[in-house]
Amino acid sequence: MKSTILLTGGAGYIGSHAYLALVDAGYHVLILDNFCNSRPDVIDRLGRITGKPVDHIEGDIRDAGFLSRVFADHRIDAVVHFAALKSVGESVVKPLEYFDVNVGGLVTLLGVMNAAGCKRMVFSSSATVYGIPDKTPTPETAERRAMNPYGQTKIDGEEMLEWLQASDPSWAVGILRYFNPAGAHASGLIGEDPRGTPNNLMPYIAEVAIGQRPEIAVFGQDYGTVDGTGVRDYIHVDDLGHGHVLSLAKLLETGQGHLANLGTGRGYSVLEVIAAYARAAGCELPHRIVDRRPGDVPVYCARTDVAADLLGFKARHTLDDMCESSWHWTQSSLSDGA
Ligand code: NAD
Ligand code: UFG
Repeated sequence: MKSTILLTGGAGYIGSHAYLALVDAGYHVLILDNFCNSRPDVIDRLGRITGKPVDHIEGDIRDAGFLSRVFADHRIDAVVHFAALKSVGESVVKPLEYFDVNVGGLVTLLGVMNAAGCKRMVFSSSATVYGIPDKTPTPETAERRAMNPYGQTKIDGEEMLEWLQASDPSWAVGILRYFNPAGAHASGLIGEDPRGTPNNLMPYIAEVAIGQRPEIAVFGQDYGTVDGTGVRDYIHVDDLGHGHVLSLAKLLETGQGHLANLGTGRGYSVLEVIAAYARAAGCELPHRIVDRRPGDVPVYCARTDVAADLLGFKARHTLDDMCESSWHWTQSSLSDGA
């Protein structure tokens, strides 16, 4: 019988792509989302892509009564937990909201799962737990250091999950540290959909390419990198989705937890990303060097051997694929008013 997976935050950017990968792998998936950072029509779009109805339920991971009813009504084998707040800048201004959703919400969810006897989770963590890493590519064994409240919530989540597994070996959790997710599904029906001014590079470039913003501000050109601009390990969101399928399969098969980076192992500078996007969009992308953004790290790049050896994971998509699919999504979402 097919396993049933509860996908929290499944209407969001990464969750919606992971939904497609999980359905493709044969899982029955139930999306749970409160749509605080996503649009309800993502559910219809997922149905258009798969050609099947999408099981979903609207609600909040902080609501224990609601979660208990979900677990009473469905036999859930595992949870893939994406639901969280994710803006670094906002977390500095509103730390309590981040602790409430990302830490409190996780504690509530784990309590309900424990009571229901569902003890398998894939957890969304982030390269941000490395703070300013001592070495790049960065291995999973590198020290965890919080640079902001958002990063603290991911460290707290990881540590709680580690203590939980230590206290009860029947728990098994896959902790996945994503590097920089980018790109969109080939259909052009789902993609990154930030509210207001994008904080992240790729969606900002997309808005310049489509003519919504005049130019890209490049945050600093005095880092010790190939061209002085910040370097990141961009990973296609479809590859991330596939990584979740592998992590889940490993958990269900072995009953053992794991911790892995999900990246490509290859970094690109801001100027290299702008050049790749300009190729994809077939236009010039005006940009200007400005001061460094406070708190930015010069280089983030993943060691990928643990994900490869443990999960059989290897990112398949290139930076050009990420830019082309982002551009396709940007154009189609503008034309159909998403
Ligand atoms: P997103 O905001 O697009 O998706 C998160 C989803 O969770 C949204 O649909 C939102 O409505 C939902 N949600 C938030 N709070 C909720 C709550 N209390 N109850 C129910 N649903 C709630 O973000 P994303 O980029 O898809 O990120 C998914 C996960 O991956 C997050 O945990 C994030 O911290 C992590 N992550 C993201 C990145 C990135 O750059 N996008 C990098 C590393 C890790
Ligand atoms: N950048 C610009 N101009 C912009 C936006 C970004 O030059 O308008 C630069 C940044 O300085 C950095 C690079 O582009 O060098 C990437 O910046 P992003 O904001 O896209 O990504 P970050 O690596 O800073 O942060 C993201 C998430 C974090 C997460 C981290 C690692 O926002 O939550 O990836 O996974 F922790």
